[in-house]
Amino acid sequence: MIVTIDGPAGAGKSSAARRLARRLGFSFLDTGAMYRAVALAGRRQGVDWENPPELSALAAGLRLELTDDRIFMNGEDVTEAIRTLEITTLTQFAADNEAVRRRLIDQQRKFAEGRNIVTEGRDQATVVFPHAECKIFLTASEEERARRRFQDLLARGEEVDLEEVLKKQRVRDQRDVERQFGGLAKAADSIEMVTDGLSPEQVVDRLEEIVRAHQH
Ligand code: C5P
Repeated sequence: MIVTIDGPAGAGKSSAARRLARRLGFSFLDTGAMYRAVALAGRRQGVDWENPPELSALAAGLRLELTDDRIFMNGEDVTEAIRTLEITTLTQFAADNEAVRRRLIDQQRKFAEGRNIVTEGRDQATVVFPHAECKIFLTASEEERARRRFQDLLARGEEVDLEEVLKKQRVRDQRDVERQFGGLAKAADSIEMVTDGLSPEQVVDRLEEIVRAHQH
């Protein structure tokens, strides 16, 4: 069974999807981490961000391995390195790159072969797994999402300002929505869930109910 969870940044997708997968005994796929890893590789190589083929050539040589809570790039654990504010901003270059997207989409479909998964991203229900058995669109208000991201970054020891996080989030939201290929969109057959005011526990409970209702 494939369960897709799409939605904007900061809606609480990652932690909810990971916990949901654990409860169901499914594998978890964090597709955002894959785009982030490509950006990290680009940053380290000093690619010219204005020249997309450079980044896609680099992505072609990357070996990404994902477990339920870690991501390895050519054997190196980059789980923490991909979460900084700098990499978060640069990730747009990977996400905007159609050749990179096609490559990562192939890898995502391979990951799903022969197993039950909860997969999380922006385009999982619309592009990558249009035939998924259960599709969820998880969202929250702009303010709530910015607050959560801010707390996250603080906890990671980054120096951040809430207003700046909100501003960057708006730019990112807009780019995610306007992206021609693989942009953020709610699939017609997705169930929308707004997480404002819900505890992480309540979100996972509700998600589990939805999935169980789709299992036969
Ligand atoms: O979910 P996360 O914040 O880790 O995603 C990082 C970025 O990667 C997003 O802002 C989005 O631009 C991009 N992304 C994407 N398609 C996905 C997952 C993430 O374009 N399936």
